[in-house]
Amino acid sequence: MALDYASLLARDHFPPGEVWLVGAGPGDPGLLTLRAAQALSQADLILHDSLSGGAVLRHARPDAEIIAVGKRKGAAPVPQPRINQRLVEGARAGQRVLRLKGGDPFIFGRGAEEARACQAAGIPWRVIPGVSAGLAAPAVAGIALTQRGMAQAVTFITAHDEAGGLPMLDWAALPGTIAAFMALSRLNELAVLLIAAGRPAATPVAIIAGATLAGQVTLRSTLGACSLAARRAALQAPALVVIGDVAAVDLTTHVPVAAARRHA
Ligand SMILES: C[S@@+](CC[C@H](N)C(=O)[O-])C[C@H]1O[C@@H](n2cnc3c(N)ncnc32)[C@H](O)[C@@H]1O
Repeated sequence: MALDYASLLARDHFPPGEVWLVGAGPGDPGLLTLRAAQALSQADLILHDSLSGGAVLRHARPDAEIIAVGKRKGAAPVPQPRINQRLVEGARAGQRVLRLKGGDPFIFGRGAEEARACQAAGIPWRVIPGVSAGLAAPAVAGIALTQRGMAQAVTFITAHDEAGGLPMLDWAALPGTIAAFMALSRLNELAVLLIAAGRPAATPVAIIAGATLAGQVTLRSTLGACSLAARRAALQAPALVVIGDVAAVDLTTHVPVAAARRHA
């Protein structure tokens, strides 16, 4: 049965005792969804990562309890089991608990673990999808991940698996454009693996650092040269690495191309 407008609006009501996993988008507060902003304005307790704090928290109630649980300068991130426990405790205490996560909660974001923890504790939970950096970063750099005639598929990969290293993948079989998360510190290893698996060293690479944020930088290079180029440019995380023919294209007209190419 189709949902009517009233039932769609009812989805914005945040009942006490629930946990909502909310995507904050890639950083630009304009890329927060309306539903995420509604949820933020109702939450009693907000736990956010380092990549999801900042300007989007302006939507929070002035009296909301706000806790940073991500990596902060000089401090270790709060361990995942402790975050899970805090979500459950808050909901059991009758709080509307909002777990704010960078990008989309279910793309390399450990949202599934938090959902499972709520399920196991009998806590009602839901997810509000967010704009993943995997989509936003290439777009703002003028890269269409699946540009017709150039790429018929896109593969999202992480460069940090559970063990902290590159995942065990069939590197020769990854189809289409590769969009790599958390890959800045592993660029050399990643490039070596892909070249050994048959991708030419001349394959275009674009690294988009701080996408949608002030100071966004796009570095364009090749698989063979990108690791050195990124080091020379002193690129800072967060950064998304796009590998494939589309990475050589810049469709933007509104982003200053001179700035984007400064480090190429
Ligand atoms: C732990 S993952 C979380 C991904 C997130 N759930 C998402 O959907 O975007 C963090 C990685 O996302 C990417 N990332 C997040 N925000 C970014 C941004 N503003 N610009 C470029 N890359 C970003 C980087 O690769 C970063 O290391």
